Amino acid sequence: MKKIVLITGSTDGIGKLTGTKLAQQGHEVYLHGRNPDKLATVISEIKEQTKNENVKGFVADFSDLDAVKQMAHQIKRELSKIDVLINNAGVYNSSKSQNDDGLDMRFVVNYLAPFLLTNELIPLLKKGENSRIINLSSAAQSPIDYEVLIGKTKRSESETYAQSKLALTMWSFYLAKTLPDINAIAVNPGSLLNTNMVKEAFGNYWSSADKGANILYELAVSDEYQDASGKYFDNDKGTFAEAHPDVYNATKINKLITTTVEILAN
Ligand SMILES: NC(=O)c1ccc[n+]([C@@H]2O[C@H](COP(=O)([O-])OP(=O)(O)OC[C@H]3O[C@@H](n4cnc5c(N)ncnc54)[C@H](OP(=O)(O)O)[C@@H]3O)[C@@H](O)[C@H]2O)c1
Repeated sequence: MKKIVLITGSTDGIGKLTGTKLAQQGHEVYLHGRNPDKLATVISEIKEQTKNENVKGFVADFSDLDAVKQMAHQIKRELSKIDVLINNAGVYNSSKSQNDDGLDMRFVVNYLAPFLLTNELIPLLKKGENSRIINLSSAAQSPIDYEVLIGKTKRSESETYAQSKLALTMWSFYLAKTLPDINAIAVNPGSLLNTNMVKEAFGNYWSSADKGANILYELAVSDEYQDASGKYFDNDKGTFAEAHPDVYNATKINKLITTTVEILAN
């Protein structure tokens, strides 16, 4: 069955490859990027390559939470439902360590923006068929330092990246518990895949970007993953696996969600 799929951060890397694969199979694909020109070029490329005209896109810089909210409102005006949301946009290195509101770049782009976007889009996901939310986690997961999350303290890029990915994974498990009608799955797409993020951060890679795109494609549309809500897929192992212990700690999850809601209310 043809799906309506929104993939954030799909102007490059594994998001772009996943969008291409989905378009090749005839799905209706909504891409997202921060740069309107790059987004328009990628949409044209994918349409031409796949001969699928149902490829469109939305623009928002995820380091700007107001822009994320505006994009969510635009999506709600233009789409009547979403079957699959892939929260893929992510950052590791960044020229500025914090956004204009003093929040760490990795926490904003990798966790707060998808949290905000997803909450806004839940009514559309509830109208979708066997809806799924796929959250891009990582093998790098580190316990959250709340002084860093609220922007009071700065830490290294590797540390805040790992904290943002654990936050996203904890929230993914929370979504699965609180939204029984929607499948929420967290995934490490594989470590050191050949993408810009990895080349900039590490200078080398271990595996092709296709490895990540293949699992995102499967998690998005394959019947095999229909009952995988509240799980963590570790593509380094090629299977569902145990996530970080904090993901199973209800007290820590409650603290995270409460703090997140407070940050987003400001
Ligand atoms: N590659 C790996 O080994 C690996 C491993 C574990 C997890 N992941 C996760 O997989 C996801 C995709 O990463 P990737 O490796 O494919 O990286 P990538 O090639 O750098 O792609 C990242 C995507 O996110 C977009 N993005 C970055 N900052 C943004 C912002 N401020 N606002 C909006 N969009 C923004 C980028 O836009 P531009 O095109 O404008 O740059 C791009 O489309 C990330 O969440 C990453 O953490 C990757």
